Amino acid sequence: MSSKVYECIEKIGNCIIANKEFLTELDREIGDADHGINMARGFTEVLAALDKESENIGEVLKKTGMTLLSKVGGASGPLYGTAYMQAGKVCAGKTALTPEDGKAIFESVIAGIQKRGKAVKGEKTMLDAIIPASEAYSAAIDSGAGIGEALDAMCKAAEEGVEYTKTIIATKGRASYLGERSIGHQDPGATSATFTMQMIRDFFKG
Ligand SMILES: Nc1ncnc2c1ncn2[C@@H]1O[C@H](COP(=O)(O)OP(=O)(O)OP(=O)(O)O)[C@@H](O)[C@H]1O
Ligand SMILES: [Mg+2]
Repeated sequence: MSSKVYECIEKIGNCIIANKEFLTELDREIGDADHGINMARGFTEVLAALDKESENIGEVLKKTGMTLLSKVGGASGPLYGTAYMQAGKVCAGKTALTPEDGKAIFESVIAGIQKRGKAVKGEKTMLDAIIPASEAYSAAIDSGAGIGEALDAMCKAAEEGVEYTKTIIATKGRASYLGERSIGHQDPGATSATFTMQMIRDFFKG
């Protein structure tokens, strides 16, 4: 139990690091070819900085966010940093989470990303994976589904969100400079957000 929260972050970090080239290639198509590099560097720092034995979920998430915020530049560092710090606030002092906590974490994470990035759904950003995933997760929990089923619904919605980003024009970040030419390409941040949620699902179902 004691090392669980670190193990979840480690799973996310290893997935991001393993997909560094892929995420960077996606960003080469519509951005500046650094998303995988940014995120992999950030998580390498995170994994080195975290207390592996801590049982305090809020503390570990806060440290993750602060590290991403301070070590990763560009748009994604502050946005992911804020997301993890917001999650940490909801989990302050907690050593275990309920399915309802998951709903509160999503709400807080989305509010934080939107406060910082001023994006809404449909602008071809990470929010196009995270918002539908949150809605699907909450709907599943509210309808009495078990946590495994809710996490599967979350990932399915995130994956569909990534597909949806291929069909729309980017209006935030560097990708917005491409206008119509951004159509046909999936958003790198929506993709890394979906990897994150897939790892969270695998962690809790594993
Ligand atoms: N305002 C925003 N709100 C939410 N997500 C955003 C916003 N701007 C960019 N993103 C996300 O960040 C990703 C790009 O992250 P990256 O690590 O490449 O940083 P960057 O090169 O500084 O970004 P950008 O060129 O988009 O400003 C995008 O794919 C998108 O999902
Ligand atoms: Mg970039």
